[in-house]
Amino acid sequence: MARRTKLLVTGAAGFIGSEFVRQAVRREYAVAVVDKLSYAGDVQRLSEAGKACTFFRADICNARAVEKIFKKEKPEIVLHFAAETHVDRSILSGEAFIRTNVLGTQVLLDAARKSGIHKFIHISTDEVYGDIHTGQFYEHTPLNPSSPYSSSKAAADLLVRAYVRTYGFPAVILRPSNNYGPWQYPEKFIPVIIYKALKNEKIPVFAKGLNVREWLYVSDCARAIMRSVQKARPGEVYNVGSGDERKNIEVARNILDILGKPYSLIEFVADRPGHDFRYSLNFTGIKRDLGWNPEISFEEGLVKTVNWYVKHENWLERKVVYLREYWKKVYKKGIRRSPK
Ligand SMILES: NC(=O)c1ccc[n+]([C@@H]2O[C@H](COP(=O)([O-])OP(=O)(O)OC[C@H]3O[C@@H](n4cnc5c(N)ncnc54)[C@H](O)[C@@H]3O)[C@@H](O)[C@H]2O)c1
Repeated sequence: MARRTKLLVTGAAGFIGSEFVRQAVRREYAVAVVDKLSYAGDVQRLSEAGKACTFFRADICNARAVEKIFKKEKPEIVLHFAAETHVDRSILSGEAFIRTNVLGTQVLLDAARKSGIHKFIHISTDEVYGDIHTGQFYEHTPLNPSSPYSSSKAAADLLVRAYVRTYGFPAVILRPSNNYGPWQYPEKFIPVIIYKALKNEKIPVFAKGLNVREWLYVSDCARAIMRSVQKARPGEVYNVGSGDERKNIEVARNILDILGKPYSLIEFVADRPGHDFRYSLNFTGIKRDLGWNPEISFEEGLVKTVNWYVKHENWLERKVVYLREYWKKVYKKGIRRSPK
Protein backbone atom coordinates (compact mmCIF):
# COMPACT_ATOMS: atom_id res chain seq x y z
CA MET A 1 0.00 0.00 0.00
CA ALA A 2 1.23 3.54 -0.79
CA ARG A 3 2.47 5.46 2.24
CA ARG A 4 -0.32 7.61 3.65
CA THR A 5 0.14 11.32 4.43
CA LYS A 6 0.26 11.82 8.20
CA LEU A 7 -2.00 14.54 9.60
CA LEU A 8 -1.92 15.92 13.12
CA VAL A 9 -5.23 17.53 14.09
CA THR A 10 -5.60 19.69 17.22
CA GLY A 11 -9.03 20.22 18.79
CA ALA A 12 -10.31 17.14 16.97
CA ALA A 13 -12.78 16.23 19.71
CA GLY A 14 -14.61 19.49 18.99
CA PHE A 15 -17.43 20.25 16.57
CA ILE A 16 -15.59 21.08 13.30
CA GLY A 17 -12.35 19.19 14.02
CA SER A 18 -14.23 15.91 14.48
CA GLU A 19 -16.07 16.36 11.16
CA PHE A 20 -12.73 17.00 9.47
CA VAL A 21 -11.28 13.82 11.05
CA ARG A 22 -14.26 11.75 9.85
CA GLN A 23 -13.64 12.97 6.30
CA ALA A 24 -9.86 12.44 6.56
CA VAL A 25 -10.24 8.88 7.82
CA ARG A 26 -12.68 8.09 4.97
CA ARG A 27 -10.01 9.33 2.57
CA GLU A 28 -7.49 7.07 4.28
CA TYR A 29 -5.16 9.70 5.64
CA ALA A 30 -3.14 8.61 8.66
CA VAL A 31 -4.54 10.77 11.46
CA ALA A 32 -3.25 11.60 14.94
CA VAL A 33 -5.26 13.96 17.11
CA VAL A 34 -4.44 16.16 20.09
CA ASP A 35 -7.16 17.44 22.38
CA LYS A 36 -7.20 18.36 26.04
CA LEU A 37 -10.91 17.52 26.27
CA SER A 38 -12.09 20.81 27.71
CA TYR A 39 -15.82 21.11 28.51
CA ALA A 40 -16.32 21.55 24.73
CA GLY A 41 -14.42 18.40 23.71
CA ASP A 42 -16.05 14.98 23.51
CA VAL A 43 -14.45 11.78 22.23
CA GLN A 44 -17.91 10.51 21.30
CA ARG A 45 -17.67 12.79 18.29
CA LEU A 46 -14.74 10.66 17.12
CA SER A 47 -16.47 7.30 17.56
CA GLU A 48 -17.04 6.91 13.81
CA ALA A 49 -13.31 7.48 13.15
CA GLY A 50 -12.60 4.96 15.93
CA LYS A 51 -9.29 3.16 15.86
CA ALA A 52 -8.35 4.78 12.55
CA CYS A 53 -6.96 7.76 14.46
CA THR A 54 -4.45 7.91 17.29
CA PHE A 55 -5.65 10.06 20.18
CA PHE A 56 -3.39 12.10 22.47
CA ARG A 57 -5.00 13.84 25.40
CA ALA A 58 -2.82 16.92 25.83
CA ASP A 59 -3.00 20.66 26.29
CA ILE A 60 -1.49 22.52 23.32
CA CYS A 61 -0.02 25.05 25.78
CA ASN A 62 2.19 22.31 27.23
CA ALA A 63 5.31 22.64 25.06
CA ARG A 64 6.95 19.43 26.32
CA ALA A 65 3.87 17.32 25.69
CA VAL A 66 3.39 18.85 22.23
CA GLU A 67 7.04 18.32 21.24
CA LYS A 68 6.84 14.69 22.35
CA ILE A 69 3.80 14.14 20.15
CA PHE A 70 5.55 15.69 17.14
CA LYS A 71 8.60 13.48 17.73
CA LYS A 72 6.50 10.35 17.98
CA GLU A 73 4.06 11.04 15.13
CA LYS A 74 6.27 13.02 12.71
CA PRO A 75 3.25 14.64 11.02
CA GLU A 76 3.55 16.09 7.52
CA ILE A 77 0.54 18.38 7.79
CA VAL A 78 -0.87 20.03 10.94
CA LEU A 79 -4.48 21.22 11.17
CA HIS A 80 -4.99 23.58 14.07
CA PHE A 81 -8.59 23.72 15.31
CA ALA A 82 -8.03 23.72 19.09
CA ALA A 83 -9.40 26.87 20.67
CA GLU A 84 -11.69 28.34 23.26
CA THR A 85 -14.60 29.26 21.03
CA HIS A 86 -17.57 30.76 22.87
CA VAL A 87 -17.88 34.54 22.61
CA ASP A 88 -20.12 34.90 25.70
CA ARG A 89 -17.61 33.03 27.86
CA SER A 90 -14.82 35.25 26.54
CA ILE A 91 -16.79 38.30 27.66
CA LEU A 92 -16.93 36.88 31.20
CA SER A 93 -13.19 36.19 31.22
CA GLY A 94 -10.62 36.36 28.44
CA GLU A 95 -7.89 34.45 30.25
CA ALA A 96 -8.49 30.93 28.86
CA PHE A 97 -8.87 32.48 25.39
CA ILE A 98 -5.51 34.21 25.45
CA ARG A 99 -3.88 31.09 26.89
CA THR A 100 -5.15 28.52 24.39
CA ASN A 101 -5.77 30.64 21.32
CA VAL A 102 -2.60 32.73 21.48
CA LEU A 103 -0.03 30.93 23.66
CA GLY A 104 -1.22 27.49 22.50
CA THR A 105 -0.88 28.56 18.86
CA GLN A 106 2.67 29.82 19.47
CA VAL A 107 3.64 26.54 21.17
CA LEU A 108 2.28 24.57 18.21
CA LEU A 109 3.94 26.81 15.64
CA ASP A 110 7.32 26.33 17.34
CA ALA A 111 6.93 22.57 17.60
CA ALA A 112 5.80 22.35 13.97
CA ARG A 113 8.69 24.51 12.81
CA LYS A 114 11.24 22.41 14.68
CA SER A 115 9.84 19.19 13.31
CA GLY A 116 9.92 20.46 9.69
CA ILE A 117 6.32 19.91 8.62
CA HIS A 118 5.16 20.47 5.00
CA LYS A 119 2.01 22.47 5.76
CA PHE A 120 0.26 24.05 8.73
CA ILE A 121 -3.41 24.86 8.29
CA HIS A 122 -4.59 27.41 10.81
CA ILE A 123 -8.34 27.55 11.39
CA SER A 124 -9.19 31.18 12.01
CA THR A 125 -12.66 32.77 11.79
CA ASP A 126 -14.57 35.52 9.96
CA GLU A 127 -14.92 37.24 13.34
CA VAL A 128 -11.33 38.53 13.10
CA TYR A 129 -12.60 41.20 10.67
CA GLY A 130 -15.14 42.65 13.13
CA ASP A 131 -18.54 43.48 11.65
CA ILE A 132 -19.73 45.14 8.45
CA HIS A 133 -23.11 46.76 7.71
CA THR A 134 -22.86 46.64 3.92
CA GLY A 135 -20.40 44.99 1.55
CA GLN A 136 -18.10 42.08 2.25
CA PHE A 137 -14.84 41.10 3.91
CA TYR A 138 -11.94 40.21 1.63
CA GLU A 139 -8.83 38.34 2.72
CA HIS A 140 -6.90 41.65 2.64
CA THR A 141 -9.47 43.49 4.83
CA PRO A 142 -7.71 44.72 8.00
CA LEU A 143 -8.43 42.73 11.14
CA ASN A 144 -10.69 44.60 13.55
CA PRO A 145 -12.02 42.12 16.13
CA SER A 146 -14.71 43.07 18.65
CA SER A 147 -14.76 40.42 21.40
CA PRO A 148 -12.03 38.89 23.57
CA TYR A 149 -12.64 35.67 21.59
CA SER A 150 -12.18 37.25 18.18
CA SER A 151 -9.22 39.31 19.43
CA SER A 152 -7.45 36.17 20.58
CA LYS A 153 -8.15 34.53 17.21
CA ALA A 154 -6.85 37.65 15.41
CA ALA A 155 -3.71 37.57 17.56
CA ALA A 156 -3.18 33.93 16.54
CA ASP A 157 -3.68 34.89 12.87
CA LEU A 158 -1.05 37.59 13.17
CA LEU A 159 1.39 35.17 14.82
CA VAL A 160 0.89 32.67 12.00
CA ARG A 161 1.44 35.44 9.42
CA ALA A 162 4.59 36.53 11.25
CA TYR A 163 5.95 32.97 11.13
CA VAL A 164 5.27 32.82 7.39
CA ARG A 165 7.14 36.06 6.82
CA THR A 166 9.97 35.62 9.32
CA TYR A 167 10.74 31.93 8.97
CA GLY A 168 9.17 31.06 5.61
CA PHE A 169 6.88 28.81 7.68
CA PRO A 170 4.49 26.89 5.37
CA ALA A 171 1.18 28.02 6.87
CA VAL A 172 -2.23 28.52 5.28
CA ILE A 173 -4.92 30.54 7.09
CA LEU A 174 -8.61 29.71 6.65
CA ARG A 175 -11.35 32.04 7.89
CA PRO A 176 -14.70 30.22 7.91
CA SER A 177 -18.04 31.84 8.66
CA ASN A 178 -20.52 30.56 11.30
CA ASN A 179 -20.71 26.77 11.17
CA TYR A 180 -23.75 24.70 12.09
CA GLY A 181 -24.63 21.02 11.91
CA PRO A 182 -24.57 17.81 13.98
CA TRP A 183 -22.51 17.60 17.19
CA GLN A 184 -22.32 21.35 17.84
CA TYR A 185 -22.15 22.15 21.54
CA PRO A 186 -25.52 23.47 22.75
CA GLU A 187 -24.25 26.82 23.99
CA LYS A 188 -24.09 27.96 20.34
CA PHE A 189 -27.04 29.72 18.71
CA ILE A 190 -28.64 26.99 16.56
CA PRO A 191 -28.48 24.05 19.02
CA VAL A 192 -29.67 26.33 21.86
CA ILE A 193 -32.77 27.16 19.85
CA ILE A 194 -33.38 23.53 18.91
CA TYR A 195 -33.08 22.40 22.54
CA LYS A 196 -35.35 25.11 23.91
CA ALA A 197 -37.92 24.54 21.18
CA LEU A 198 -37.94 20.78 21.84
CA LYS A 199 -38.58 21.52 25.54
CA ASN A 200 -41.12 24.29 24.85
CA GLU A 201 -38.88 26.69 26.78
CA LYS A 202 -38.46 30.38 26.04
CA ILE A 203 -35.85 30.96 23.30
CA PRO A 204 -33.50 33.87 24.07
CA VAL A 205 -32.66 36.04 21.06
CA PHE A 206 -30.36 39.04 21.53
CA ALA A 207 -31.87 42.53 21.03
CA LYS A 208 -34.43 42.36 18.20
CA GLY A 209 -32.78 39.44 16.41
CA LEU A 210 -31.64 41.62 13.49
CA ASN A 211 -27.95 40.61 13.63
CA VAL A 212 -26.87 38.74 10.51
CA ARG A 213 -24.66 35.65 10.29
CA GLU A 214 -23.42 33.74 7.24
CA TRP A 215 -24.23 30.07 7.85
CA LEU A 216 -21.94 27.32 6.61
CA TYR A 217 -22.82 23.63 6.99
CA VAL A 218 -20.05 21.85 8.90
CA SER A 219 -19.37 19.15 6.28
CA ASP A 220 -18.92 21.88 3.64
CA CYS A 221 -16.45 23.65 5.92
CA ALA A 222 -14.51 20.42 6.51
CA ARG A 223 -14.42 19.79 2.73
CA ALA A 224 -12.92 23.25 2.23
CA ILE A 225 -10.26 22.41 4.81
CA MET A 226 -9.60 19.10 3.03
CA ARG A 227 -9.14 21.00 -0.25
CA SER A 228 -6.55 23.13 1.50
CA VAL A 229 -4.71 20.01 2.63
CA GLN A 230 -4.56 18.88 -0.99
CA LYS A 231 -4.14 22.11 -2.92
CA ALA A 232 -3.49 25.28 -0.89
CA ARG A 233 -0.11 26.91 -1.22
CA PRO A 234 1.81 28.03 1.89
CA GLY A 235 1.28 31.71 2.66
CA GLU A 236 -2.27 31.77 1.27
CA VAL A 237 -5.27 33.08 3.25
CA TYR A 238 -8.80 32.02 2.30
CA ASN A 239 -12.24 33.09 3.45
CA VAL A 240 -14.62 30.15 3.64
CA GLY A 241 -18.21 31.39 3.30
CA SER A 242 -21.55 30.19 2.03
CA GLY A 243 -23.40 33.32 0.90
CA ASP A 244 -26.29 32.11 3.13
CA GLU A 245 -26.81 35.24 5.22
CA ARG A 246 -29.67 35.15 7.70
CA LYS A 247 -30.97 37.42 10.45
CA ASN A 248 -30.99 35.64 13.83
CA ILE A 249 -34.74 36.07 14.13
CA GLU A 250 -35.24 34.33 10.77
CA VAL A 251 -33.10 31.40 11.91
CA ALA A 252 -35.10 31.06 15.13
CA ARG A 253 -38.37 31.11 13.15
CA ASN A 254 -37.05 28.59 10.60
CA ILE A 255 -36.24 26.15 13.42
CA LEU A 256 -39.65 26.65 15.04
CA ASP A 257 -41.29 25.99 11.64
CA ILE A 258 -39.35 22.73 11.20
CA LEU A 259 -40.38 21.57 14.68
CA GLY A 260 -43.97 22.86 14.37
CA LYS A 261 -43.61 25.15 17.41
CA PRO A 262 -45.07 28.65 17.93
CA TYR A 263 -43.07 31.86 17.40
CA SER A 264 -44.34 32.97 20.81
CA LEU A 265 -41.49 30.91 22.33
CA ILE A 266 -39.07 33.60 21.15
CA GLU A 267 -38.05 36.03 23.88
CA PHE A 268 -35.89 39.06 23.13
CA VAL A 269 -33.14 39.56 25.74
CA ALA A 270 -30.61 42.34 26.42
CA ASP A 271 -28.03 42.53 23.65
CA ARG A 272 -24.56 40.96 23.97
CA PRO A 273 -22.00 43.69 24.81
CA GLY A 274 -20.04 44.66 21.70
CA HIS A 275 -22.28 42.43 19.57
CA ASP A 276 -21.12 42.25 15.94
CA PHE A 277 -23.99 43.26 13.66
CA ARG A 278 -23.20 41.41 10.46
CA TYR A 279 -20.52 39.23 8.89
CA SER A 280 -20.27 38.66 5.16
CA LEU A 281 -17.39 36.95 3.40
CA ASN A 282 -16.17 37.27 -0.14
CA PHE A 283 -14.93 33.74 -0.88
CA THR A 284 -14.12 33.91 -4.58
CA GLY A 285 -10.45 33.11 -3.72
CA ILE A 286 -11.08 29.58 -2.47
CA LYS A 287 -13.55 28.91 -5.32
CA ARG A 288 -11.05 30.04 -7.92
CA ASP A 289 -7.83 28.55 -6.51
CA LEU A 290 -9.03 25.37 -4.83
CA GLY A 291 -12.22 24.69 -6.78
CA TRP A 292 -14.28 24.52 -3.59
CA ASN A 293 -17.96 25.46 -3.40
CA PRO A 294 -20.46 24.97 -0.60
CA GLU A 295 -22.94 22.21 -1.52
CA ILE A 296 -25.53 22.25 1.24
CA SER A 297 -28.05 25.10 1.26
CA PHE A 298 -29.14 26.59 4.56
CA GLU A 299 -32.65 25.16 4.15
CA GLU A 300 -31.33 21.63 3.61
CA GLY A 301 -28.64 21.88 6.28
CA LEU A 302 -31.03 23.20 8.89
CA VAL A 303 -33.47 20.30 8.40
CA LYS A 304 -30.57 17.80 8.62
CA THR A 305 -29.31 19.53 11.78
CA VAL A 306 -32.69 19.62 13.54
CA ASN A 307 -33.28 15.94 12.67
CA TRP A 308 -29.85 15.01 14.06
CA TYR A 309 -30.57 16.70 17.40
CA VAL A 310 -34.01 15.10 17.61
CA LYS A 311 -32.31 11.70 17.16
CA HIS A 312 -29.55 12.53 19.65
CA GLU A 313 -31.67 14.10 22.38
CA ASN A 314 -29.82 12.16 25.12
CA TRP A 315 -26.48 13.63 24.06
CA LEU A 316 -28.05 17.09 23.91
CA GLU A 317 -29.64 16.66 27.35
CA ARG A 318 -26.33 15.58 28.95
CA LYS A 319 -24.57 18.67 27.63
CA VAL A 320 -27.36 20.99 28.75
CA VAL A 321 -27.33 19.58 32.29
CA TYR A 322 -23.60 20.35 32.48
CA LEU A 323 -24.13 23.83 31.03
CA ARG A 324 -26.90 24.66 33.52
CA GLU A 325 -24.46 23.95 36.38
CA TYR A 326 -21.86 26.22 34.76
CA TRP A 327 -24.24 29.17 34.37
CA LYS A 328 -25.65 28.64 37.88
CA LYS A 329 -22.12 29.14 39.24
CA VAL A 330 -21.62 32.23 37.06
CA TYR A 331 -24.86 33.81 38.33
CA LYS A 332 -24.08 32.80 41.94
CA LYS A 333 -20.72 34.53 41.78
CA GLY A 334 -22.56 37.59 40.46
CA ILE A 335 -20.36 37.72 37.34
CA ARG A 336 -23.50 38.06 35.27
CA ARG A 337 -27.14 38.63 36.18
CA SER A 338 -29.57 35.80 35.50
CA PRO A 339 -32.04 36.67 32.72
CA LYS A 340 -34.92 35.45 34.91
N1 LIG B 1 -17.92 26.94 15.18
C1 LIG B 1 -17.86 27.94 14.34
O1 LIG B 1 -18.89 28.45 13.88
C2 LIG B 1 -16.52 28.45 13.86
C3 LIG B 1 -16.50 29.37 12.80
C4 LIG B 1 -15.26 29.83 12.34
C5 LIG B 1 -14.10 29.37 12.92
N2 LIG B 1 -14.15 28.48 13.96
C6 LIG B 1 -12.87 28.02 14.53
O2 LIG B 1 -12.79 26.61 14.26
C7 LIG B 1 -12.10 25.94 15.30
C8 LIG B 1 -12.97 24.82 15.84
O3 LIG B 1 -14.20 25.37 16.31
P1 LIG B 1 -15.30 24.42 16.98
O4 LIG B 1 -16.59 25.13 16.89
O5 LIG B 1 -15.15 23.04 16.45
O6 LIG B 1 -14.80 24.45 18.50
P2 LIG B 1 -15.22 23.56 19.74
O7 LIG B 1 -15.34 24.48 20.90
O8 LIG B 1 -16.37 22.67 19.40
O9 LIG B 1 -13.96 22.60 19.95
C9 LIG B 1 -12.72 23.07 20.39
C10 LIG B 1 -11.87 21.83 20.74
O10 LIG B 1 -10.58 22.29 21.17
C11 LIG B 1 -10.21 21.58 22.34
N3 LIG B 1 -9.30 22.42 23.13
C12 LIG B 1 -9.61 23.61 23.75
N4 LIG B 1 -8.53 24.08 24.39
C13 LIG B 1 -7.52 23.21 24.16
C14 LIG B 1 -6.15 23.15 24.56
N5 LIG B 1 -5.60 24.10 25.33
N6 LIG B 1 -5.41 22.10 24.15
C15 LIG B 1 -5.94 21.11 23.38
N7 LIG B 1 -7.23 21.11 22.99
C16 LIG B 1 -8.00 22.15 23.38
C17 LIG B 1 -11.52 21.30 23.06
O11 LIG B 1 -11.41 20.22 23.98
C18 LIG B 1 -12.44 20.99 21.88
O12 LIG B 1 -12.41 19.62 21.56
C19 LIG B 1 -11.77 27.01 16.34
O13 LIG B 1 -10.43 27.40 16.15
C20 LIG B 1 -12.72 28.15 16.03
O14 LIG B 1 -12.18 29.39 16.40
C21 LIG B 1 -15.33 28.02 14.44
